[in-house]
Amino acid sequence: MISIAILGFGNIGSGVADVLANNEEKISKIIGDEIRIKYVLDKRDLSDTPYADRAVTDIDVIVNDPDVTVVCEMMGGTQPAYDYSIALLKAGKSVVTSNKEVVARMGDLLLATAREHGVHYLYEASVGGGIPILHALDDSLKSCAISRIDGILNGTTNYILTRMHDCNASFESALSEARKLGYAEANPTADISGADACRKIMILAAVAWGKLVSAEDVPCEGITAITSEDSTFAVSCGGALKLIASAVKTASGIMMTVSPAVVLADNPLYSAKGVFNAVKVRAGDLGDVMFYGMGAGKLPTASAVVSDIIAAINRSDSNGYTFFLPNDESLLSPEETPDAFCLLVQADADILYERIPSLALLNSKDGVHSILCEDMSKKTIYEAFDGLAVLKCLRAIV
Ligand code: HSE
Repeated sequence: MISIAILGFGNIGSGVADVLANNEEKISKIIGDEIRIKYVLDKRDLSDTPYADRAVTDIDVIVNDPDVTVVCEMMGGTQPAYDYSIALLKAGKSVVTSNKEVVARMGDLLLATAREHGVHYLYEASVGGGIPILHALDDSLKSCAISRIDGILNGTTNYILTRMHDCNASFESALSEARKLGYAEANPTADISGADACRKIMILAAVAWGKLVSAEDVPCEGITAITSEDSTFAVSCGGALKLIASAVKTASGIMMTVSPAVVLADNPLYSAKGVFNAVKVRAGDLGDVMFYGMGAGKLPTASAVVSDIIAAINRSDSNGYTFFLPNDESLLSPEETPDAFCLLVQADADILYERIPSLALLNSKDGVHSILCEDMSKKTIYEAFDGLAVLKCLRAIV
């Protein structure tokens, strides 16, 4: 019998108990043993749940119980989640989590502690809900030189943008629906400000390239300032507006950014709608590969947690999805890094071509042109269009 504990019995924590119960037979076959939830730690009263007899409020009960080998931290926030996780790892217990905030801020310290004590710190559910993207980056894509990651990494904002685009819903009503469906954070500011997507791209970049940057160093813009004109502009370019988190590795460093972007219809990310998340990875010899699935929600996220519980029990070769090459790579400014951009410019089309011969004209109406510029930095484009009326400039995902 393998004893585990769950810290935080909210949406995801209770989902972990459900996924373990729903798949009991299969899991027992894989690990050759049974898993029992020995403790559930929560501040809330659990007396009306089937786990009332296992409810505890003191973390030391779990830390000091040698029976418990794996603990699921589903508390959210950095404290006390960080202190509890460190204490558990030091006590020789593996920790699995869906807590992107603690991984994005302190993942390197948690991983180092896990390594030092010969246990696992696993966090697949912290990025993309149920999508197995960290496992893929850390394992299946080991042989590939990853040069770019673009992701729709927040289900709430993708749900809001989809409802606004497809059903003309207002921002407020779409957000309220996302909250009712259990997708949004307790405080949805982290969703709509882009902070949640920012944490997730930081984790992806750290697993891909070994550098865990600070959130303060990643330019991050959410969807609060989006207007219906931005959405119409995206459609005029032949695309849709989505909140995209990107990480790009160049010869001179890593560029990371989160912002609304025009995703052109040819790009597979275009089809990720509603609460779905999608992560497109440019993976060296493999080329582009995309991971798509439920990025939020109780059971999808809990399924990733349970896979990590199984991995913690079965794996002996690695301590976690490693930030495997600690490095000093510089962080590049998105303004100065060549990328693709969609612009709305009021000017004579001939003048536009004179200034940037490689541009693609996507749409024209009454002397106002929607254009696409690729492999150029925003700074270079603005310098080339100096003196022209640039009405909009959004990142493009081509
Ligand atoms: N609030 C998050 C989202 C939950 O909407 O994607 C999953 O991390």
